[in-house]
Amino acid sequence: MTGDALQIAKTTQIGPFDTGRLAYGCWRFAGSTAAEAAQKVHAALEIGANLVDTAAIYGFGAEGFGAAEEVLGAVYRAEKDLRARTVLVTKAGIHPPVPYDSRASNLIASCEGSLARLGADTIDVFLIHRPDLLASFEEVADALTHLRQTGKIREAGVSNFTHTQIRALQSKLDFPLVASQPEFSPLAIDPLEDGTLDIAQELNLAVMAWSPLGGGRLTAAHQPEAGTQEARVLTVLEGIATRESVGVDHVALAWVLAHPSNLIALIGTQNVARIKDSAKVFDVRLSRQDWYDVLIAARGKTMP
Ligand SMILES: NC(=O)c1ccc[n+]([C@@H]2O[C@H](COP(=O)([O-])OP(=O)(O)OC[C@H]3O[C@@H](n4cnc5c(N)ncnc54)[C@H](OP(=O)(O)O)[C@@H]3O)[C@@H](O)[C@H]2O)c1
Repeated sequence: MTGDALQIAKTTQIGPFDTGRLAYGCWRFAGSTAAEAAQKVHAALEIGANLVDTAAIYGFGAEGFGAAEEVLGAVYRAEKDLRARTVLVTKAGIHPPVPYDSRASNLIASCEGSLARLGADTIDVFLIHRPDLLASFEEVADALTHLRQTGKIREAGVSNFTHTQIRALQSKLDFPLVASQPEFSPLAIDPLEDGTLDIAQELNLAVMAWSPLGGGRLTAAHQPEAGTQEARVLTVLEGIATRESVGVDHVALAWVLAHPSNLIALIGTQNVARIKDSAKVFDVRLSRQDWYDVLIAARGKTMP
């Protein structure tokens, strides 16, 4: 590596909460037993990933909402002090088959359903999962205000919102949003230029990057088609990974965390050893040149 390494702190804040820069995503949790899920949450805590991200929609199927939340709830019920050791994030507003419903009544009912499944008194950070184009920002703000005033949520944020949608919602609230959750990885680079990361810095939002490994495409196991964005990015990541004696997945996570926005990477592996191994991200020394090389590979063209 040439030049100074980009700094990647191990911890950060999301609103009033102290969290690791790595967090654990429970999208793929449904189907795990409570004992298996507990091992994953403990592996995450071991590496400082104390923020746990779930959603009412995760595991949606014949039984309806909440299969993933049920599993996490079973973990919390089995170990009473665990809830206090995690920063709990859940989401509402995706409503098959509509597809979205952020009317106040639905957001409030969804939050109450999440609390019951999770066996929790309050959600630390409650996110609107996707923007419902038929719900006014005022109505969404009223629901969030009600949930916060009644103590059902501590703080609020959004996921998959554009920067203008974030600003519009914030304008209707008399408390600050604390988080945004966009897809962001070397395979999903739009947030760098579409205003998502800029508004996060402007409003002091923590940014939880979802699918930071492209859902598994930024790993040594993935065989990309020649000439694709995946192939270009993996080639650059592999060069850095070999030099740093880590996996391509660790370099991809480091690339996400090296951006100066307040990023938190939501890792989604269901493999306990891989969860623990993710801590290698903090051993990666990325130069500015490395970071731009990955971006240029992702763009498929040089910077202007
Ligand atoms: N807000 C939203 O709209 C939204 C959307 C999607 C996701 N999310 C959040 O983001 C979290 C993470 O998303 P994600 O699960 O897509 O994240 P990810 O970390 O990008 O991908 C996880 C996938 O990669 C595989 N993987 C990871 N490391 C690997 C390795 N070294 N070798 C081979 N395979 C590997 C995992 O398989 P194994 O399990 O076999 O390791 C798993 O299938 C979710 O749990 C959820 O909390 C939010």
